[in-house]
Amino acid sequence: MKHIRNFCIIAHIDHGKSTLADRLLEHTKTIGSRDMMNQVLDDMDLEREKGITIKSKAIQMDYVINGQQYTLNLIDTPGHVDFSYEVSRALAACEGALLLVDASQGIQAQTISNLYLAIGNDLEIIPVINKIDMDGAMIPEVKDQIIELIGCKDEDILLASGKSGIGIEEILQAVVARIPAPEGNAEAPLEALLFDSVFNSFRGIIAYFRIYNGTIRKGDKVRFLATGAEYEAAEIGVLKLGLEPRKEVKAGDVGYIITGIKTAKDVKVGDTITIASNPGNAIQGFEEVKPMVFAGIFPVVTEDFEELRDCMEKLQLNDASLTYEIETSQALGFGFRCGFLGLLHMEIIQERLEREFNQTVITTVPNVSFIAYTTRDEKIIVNNPAEMPDPVKIDRVEEPFIRAQIITLPEYIGNIMTLCLGKRGILLNQSYLTPTRVELIFEMPLTEIVFDFYDKLKSNTRGYASFDYTPIGYREADIAKMDILLNGDKVDALSALIHRSRAQDFGRKLCEKLKELLPRQQFMIAIQAAVGAKVLARETISAMRKDVTAKCYGGDISRKRKLLEKQKEGKKRMRQIGNVEIPQEAFLAVLKLD
Ligand code: GTP
Repeated sequence: MKHIRNFCIIAHIDHGKSTLADRLLEHTKTIGSRDMMNQVLDDMDLEREKGITIKSKAIQMDYVINGQQYTLNLIDTPGHVDFSYEVSRALAACEGALLLVDASQGIQAQTISNLYLAIGNDLEIIPVINKIDMDGAMIPEVKDQIIELIGCKDEDILLASGKSGIGIEEILQAVVARIPAPEGNAEAPLEALLFDSVFNSFRGIIAYFRIYNGTIRKGDKVRFLATGAEYEAAEIGVLKLGLEPRKEVKAGDVGYIITGIKTAKDVKVGDTITIASNPGNAIQGFEEVKPMVFAGIFPVVTEDFEELRDCMEKLQLNDASLTYEIETSQALGFGFRCGFLGLLHMEIIQERLEREFNQTVITTVPNVSFIAYTTRDEKIIVNNPAEMPDPVKIDRVEEPFIRAQIITLPEYIGNIMTLCLGKRGILLNQSYLTPTRVELIFEMPLTEIVFDFYDKLKSNTRGYASFDYTPIGYREADIAKMDILLNGDKVDALSALIHRSRAQDFGRKLCEKLKELLPRQQFMIAIQAAVGAKVLARETISAMRKDVTAKCYGGDISRKRKLLEKQKEGKKRMRQIGNVEIPQEAFLAVLKLD
């Protein structure tokens, strides 16, 4: 155990994490230059090609210094606030972190939020100024920023370039010298933290763990403490470029387990793995990650529903934080109401359905989960506007609140205040972390964050703000269901749940946006936004003028073929509702309102 080091790399996006990781793998000959592809830890396609997990989330390097061999486990972390629980579990599997800062950019928002997560997990921080080969490198300035932020000494800061390979050996030496070896007792009952899992179509679910105490052996009957599921360890091992089976993996080390588990629900990030016959204790409080945002996912072509169902099942094996159940919409037919960790997660799922599973889908207006209490004191969880009871039957509605932490530069405080207060935020605290870094704490309704908060925050601070949030429970709110009518017909898939004070403005903007997004037809289209029977806004799309060229189209075969091809290609993300065609953008128009 003395010769193991577990560490991760944390950085603001694009500060060169993947490139540096590649250099470390190359330098330790973990990957021969023949296998070397740029950004090995990143590539999902490659992963599937090889039928193993290279995206791997963890990779083991052998490193020899002064005649002594060390095992270095590099653990990869996701980089977005949606996944902060997973980031913190990955960090919990390490004793140290390389804090990477781009020499030409200096400290940026995510540098700070990631640093805080690392400090929160008691990690030893090794600051590295990266990309020093660049013309714009500002080494002395960035050094000062780092010293101010973490209070280290000048000589603690390493200089590197992942691109030209400068400083790689020094980084490896620092990992060995400065990051503490893991502690733990290999003879004690097994306590292993499950920090990530992936689904592999050949092998089933592969779970990654870090052992705190005990030893896991092939063939052991293991138990997942939080879920209570028990399985036999069909294969265990360590992670090199691929999976390397071992007979046992001991305290301090990082490894994987394959058990033939086919239910993603049994394997949850943050759970503790132990031996069923001699169980240890849970390593830390296990937190069930709850979906925060819900939206419908529908096939573009109704007949593809079964196929989509199949894909959803597979996708969930790969991503246990995705939840779904069947939903029926008058407008869109059969589909799924899905629960996501956040909007980015929603985008990722949609993209994976399209890229990995070849599905063309429509995603509907996202919403948070409300609680409605009826006058008969029933409690109804509302994950879908359609589930909101009739207003006359509602006693009260509650909405989820969050505590938002925003870190920014002093010059953006005004913009952020305007933004957050406009979103029903309540300022709790404002404090200076350093003379040039301010932290603002707000309480805000989650629903206001869901729509476009993150984009607005970025544009109002020129990208110079980091944002993180934690749920703090439910509060009463005046929530209304807004319906959209096209030529008098309600389109359920366009309904949204919003705060009543915003309904008028929201309805007007949404109608304007839909007017922009809906293609013109041969007839006029009336777009109306209504709460109950009350119409709040209306726009009209005038009819298209008769297209004279349309008449030419008769027997001309090449034109006909073109049209057919167009239709074929046109599993376009477009749905015909009544006689109006609605493109995907229109379903998500609420996300783009100014
Ligand atoms: P994300 O995975 O998107 O968070 O980015 P990352 O932090 O992994 O950064 P990545 O390694 O993808 O590098 C971002 C960009 O910076 C790429 O265009 C790299 O080619 C470039 N880059 C990375 N390291 C260096 C370096 O040391 N010097 C120079 N000049 N460019 C670098």
